[in-house]
Amino acid sequence: MSSVLSVDGVTKTFGGLVAVDSLSLTVEPGEALGILGPNGAGKTALINMVSGFYRPTAGTIRLFDREITDLSLHQIGRLGIARTFQNIRLFRRMTVLENVMTANPRYTRKPLRAFFGFGGRRHDIDEAMALVEFMGLADRADRIAGSLPYGDARRLEMARALATGPRLLLLDEPGAGMNEEETERLIADIHKCRERLAAIVLIEHDMTMIRKIADRVVAMNYGRKMAEGRPTEVLSHPEVKRAYLGTTEGELV
Ligand SMILES: Nc1ncnc2c1ncn2[C@@H]1O[C@H](COP(=O)(O)OP(=O)(O)OP(=O)(O)O)[C@@H](O)[C@H]1O
Ligand SMILES: [Mg+2]
Repeated sequence: MSSVLSVDGVTKTFGGLVAVDSLSLTVEPGEALGILGPNGAGKTALINMVSGFYRPTAGTIRLFDREITDLSLHQIGRLGIARTFQNIRLFRRMTVLENVMTANPRYTRKPLRAFFGFGGRRHDIDEAMALVEFMGLADRADRIAGSLPYGDARRLEMARALATGPRLLLLDEPGAGMNEEETERLIADIHKCRERLAAIVLIEHDMTMIRKIADRVVAMNYGRKMAEGRPTEVLSHPEVKRAYLGTTEGELV
């Protein structure tokens, strides 16, 4: 069976700065791939390329057997890649339900409907509501997104990503800024989302999340892969420890 995602020798430069440096990795069917690495390692730049926000300077990217390297953001979205952002992106003045409805590509293809308000077909509303419920936000469906607490905003962003019907979901530090209790709930939410996806890529600094979600981990530094393997192997890798802790002593927690 072909990989869900294949990144092959991908490089991204900004002027003289090499953000991602001939990186190769795959994500296999059913897998949750964790990506970690210190600030500036190139993690976000990598998923910006996979999701079509940046065009690679070199290398190829495939989704299943289809090359997507030079496709647009919207083409890549239609082929089944969705993502969330390091800094949550929502329509802050719309309600929770409206946020999910507008994420559905059927809406963006029918701008007139958006123009005349959200009196869309019952089916579209039901579908969006089912996702709102799936993410545990049913009692907040009519709330303005900008007023949601952080954890709920993250869940809403994930519901918006799922509304595009993706096969691959890319999560960029979803646990950032969460306390232990919120993190536990987020972990459960991510596991639940996996039922609907062929695979998931999780960028995280939170090692608990990496341990509890990732089947395999790629550690990056300076745009390159510095280690790859099972979470326990990668988290005890001397280079990874040095990059995070400045020393090979101690444990990454
Ligand atoms: N649009 C851009 N223009 C110029 N430089 C960029 C751009 N995007 C990223 N970079 C640079 O590329 C490098 C990698 O950035 P990236 O955001 O991918 O890091 P990261 O691993 O996601 O870090 P963090 O953990 O802090 O989110 C950094 O040096 C960053 O400043
Ligand atoms: Mg980042």
